[in-house]
Amino acid sequence: MSAPIGIFDSGIGGLSVLRAMRALMPEEALLYVADQARVPYGPRPMAQIQAFSEQITRFLLANQAKMVVVACNTASAAALHYLRTTFPAVPFVGMEPAVKPAAEQTLSGVVGVLATPATFQGALYASVLERFTGGVTVLQDTCPGLVGQIEAGDVNGPETRRILEKALLPMLAEGVDTVVMGCTHYPFVIPLIEQIGGGQLRVIDPAPAVAKQAKRVLESRGLKVGVKEKAGVQYYTSGPLKAFNSLLYDLLGENGQARSLSWD
Ligand code: DGL
Repeated sequence: MSAPIGIFDSGIGGLSVLRAMRALMPEEALLYVADQARVPYGPRPMAQIQAFSEQITRFLLANQAKMVVVACNTASAAALHYLRTTFPAVPFVGMEPAVKPAAEQTLSGVVGVLATPATFQGALYASVLERFTGGVTVLQDTCPGLVGQIEAGDVNGPETRRILEKALLPMLAEGVDTVVMGCTHYPFVIPLIEQIGGGQLRVIDPAPAVAKQAKRVLESRGLKVGVKEKAGVQYYTSGPLKAFNSLLYDLLGENGQARSLSWD
């Protein structure tokens, strides 16, 4: 088997990126790590998220990953720069809040961003705002509790709806017409977001763009596999296996058998 692409997230959010990678490059073997024993990352201090991200990266590299996709906005905000410095020979692809396409596409001039507290605090978000939002109003919300709801597989129950309405209704009242999924967990609640928006909201999921970027990086480094056969995906979680496997089925319709991963 050729070397896999490593992908990680604090939990199952990165599966929204994995889905886009599978669609674009089914011939690439993937190795996915969900750090569910320590999810959520969003409210944690930056230094701790960096340490977790380094630990996971070492695990992926020890398992022959040829590239690492940080499929977590929070880990990208806290650790992408640090990971690139610590592992200079490894190609990394990370998430950055998709404010640029939102600012280009909004007609009302008001854009909403949903992301975790750590993502909003990071330098990456500040730089994206500074570079791309001239003349556009950006409203933001951390949707407290939403990552936990999605980790529990609740993508359209009353509590999930309550959290989203609390974030979105004030934004809609201010004229938001475009919402950015600034956390990789959130694309799994897009149908609910669209419902709350009454069909008026444009929702931006950056996953397809990230998959394209990963493909470009592989090609530029000569790391892309040549064959066109469908390759396998191996899943690891630091949390309970059964819960992960059933979420994998519910969210992606896949019958995967995750392996267990523990941190000493
Ligand atoms: N999926 C994550 C993100 O993209 C992190 C959620 C969390 O662990 O708080 O930000």
